[in-house]
Amino acid sequence: MKKRVFSGARPTGRQHIGNYIGAIQNYVALQDEYECIYCLVDIHALSTLEDTGKLQENICEMVLDWLAAGLDPEKSIIFVQSHVPEVMELHTFLSMITPLSWLLRVPTFKEKAKLQPHNVNYGLVGYPVLMTADILLYKAEVVPVGEDQLPHLELAREIVRRFNNQFGDTFPEPQARLTSFPMILGLDGREKMSKQLNNHIELALSDKETLARVMTAVTDPARRYRTDPGRPAICNIHKLDAYFNPLQRELFAAQCRRAEIGCVEHKQILAERINSELRPLRERRAVLATKPHYVNEVLADGAGRARVIARETIKEVKERMRLV
Ligand code: TRP
Repeated sequence: MKKRVFSGARPTGRQHIGNYIGAIQNYVALQDEYECIYCLVDIHALSTLEDTGKLQENICEMVLDWLAAGLDPEKSIIFVQSHVPEVMELHTFLSMITPLSWLLRVPTFKEKAKLQPHNVNYGLVGYPVLMTADILLYKAEVVPVGEDQLPHLELAREIVRRFNNQFGDTFPEPQARLTSFPMILGLDGREKMSKQLNNHIELALSDKETLARVMTAVTDPARRYRTDPGRPAICNIHKLDAYFNPLQRELFAAQCRRAEIGCVEHKQILAERINSELRPLRERRAVLATKPHYVNEVLADGAGRARVIARETIKEVKERMRLV
């Protein structure tokens, strides 16, 4: 039997090249080897969202990008977290065996609490427990995530060990599966690419818009004139070349160090490379976007399939915990 993969992503709307390289490509690649379940975690999103007005639109735009990038609803289950409410049931059960002290030392909790001191809600503390429930509900063994999620996976395994010890062997210990690509920097060259920081390049831009975005990228700040030699090691365009232009990467780096290629020219070439990589995705997306019900159908079908598995697990958990 194929092993099961589960991953969740917050519904942030249109996806950017950081999401694409860091997550989506990985999701697509795993589809043939594993039984994959991909979830848009709308309940998790509530822990940091105060304005939920765009939630439905964000889900729809994100699914369009996922499908256009090659996630195949025939192969994988694609669904929205809240459409399978059993996850909240499992979350509550798991919360009873999770020491508060474990949750209070999770790095993401401390960060979020600092970022939103006016809204350190109960859900924020329980965030990793809900994430554990996501994974365990499907007894997934492989979890593709970014490095920032490793402490959550560690915690998930601790919860599994505790549950299995107390109630008998029920869940496998989920293992993280990191992408082969390190974190993609934003156009500011300082922070991780993110929509929130507005340092991103959306997948669904036009060629011209992509070029305009790439042009805003910070390169080597010390390189003020075309004749100044540049330092590829601290240049964002050089980093993006690793993914979009691997064959010319070293050549351009050498030329940059000798001031033989300018930042503008380098950016133009990179933008072209991004556009040619994303052209098929953009074409598929445009077609999908003309079918208004398609995304909803995919999500309804995904939730239906996910729920069959979820109900089984809940039944077993209740038996184990002597709730029935
Ligand atoms: N916490 C993850 C993030 O912020 C999203 C997530 C929720 C997740 N549930 C999950 C990831 C289950 C992997 C498995 O990116």
